[in-house]
Amino acid sequence: MNLTKIELNKIYNMNCVEGMKLIKNNTIDLIVTDPPFAIKFKATKQNYNRTASRVIQGYNEIKAEDYYDFTYSWMKECFRILKESGSMYVFSGWNNLKDILIALDKVGFITINHIIWKYQFGVVTAKKFVTSHYHCLFVCKNEKKRKFYPYTRFKKNSKTAEGRSLHYKDKEDVWEIKREYWTGDQKTPTKLPSELIKKILEYSSAKTDTVLDPFLGSGQVAVVSKMLGRKYLGCEIVQDYYKFAKKRLDKNLYRLK
Ligand SMILES: C[S@@+](CC[C@H](N)C(=O)[O-])C[C@H]1O[C@@H](n2cnc3c(N)ncnc32)[C@H](O)[C@@H]1O
Repeated sequence: MNLTKIELNKIYNMNCVEGMKLIKNNTIDLIVTDPPFAIKFKATKQNYNRTASRVIQGYNEIKAEDYYDFTYSWMKECFRILKESGSMYVFSGWNNLKDILIALDKVGFITINHIIWKYQFGVVTAKKFVTSHYHCLFVCKNEKKRKFYPYTRFKKNSKTAEGRSLHYKDKEDVWEIKREYWTGDQKTPTKLPSELIKKILEYSSAKTDTVLDPFLGSGQVAVVSKMLGRKYLGCEIVQDYYKFAKKRLDKNLYRLK
């Protein structure tokens, strides 16, 4: 694809490192992303209770030995295009987490929180414990300038029936959020729950802010951003996934609560 510039509220079928090179310095408010895991992931594998035949093939996996260089190259672009007031959330399994953590440091990001997302449907194993969590690194460029909206979800004084603070509970760094079942005919192999993305967007962006996902997959980050009135941008290297994400974005979307 021969592009000279990127337009807002569009997604691109391209390598995100090339795509981000077309974005100007200090222009993105929030990056939410779930890069490939480098665990020899295959789209054919039946996972999250999905019928394998309905899963769109072609997932672009990265070799474990290339993972650090790959991670550094996309993170460097993220750092350049993120605003001083912006922040980034990166999802990672535990296998190659060390590469993600080292690259974040080397690129210059400041870690704000190390969040654990606890999900259901871990793969049952006989000789080890069941992995049922993801890591989510919440980082920024400038600790003094970064924006955070602490009371958009719960008012400061709102309490549970037992008198506990609702916003305290919501702000703990272990998030228990269920994966969603896919009901359509076609699906991509991995999808973050909309509730998870909504939570991130509500704490770390305002309406009309620009949200980028360099690794779109099903397009979930762009879809939820659109639903919440944010501007969105994103890349996906696999054409079939890009088309799937674009179709979802082009539909009239229902409103999230
Ligand atoms: C873990 S999935 C993202 C899933 C997504 N968060 C969702 O909710 O559907 C990672 C995606 O990155 C894509 N990908 C891998 N390398 C890429 C690259 N260099 N540029 C853009 N996309 C890439 C893969 O094809 C895959 O769809």
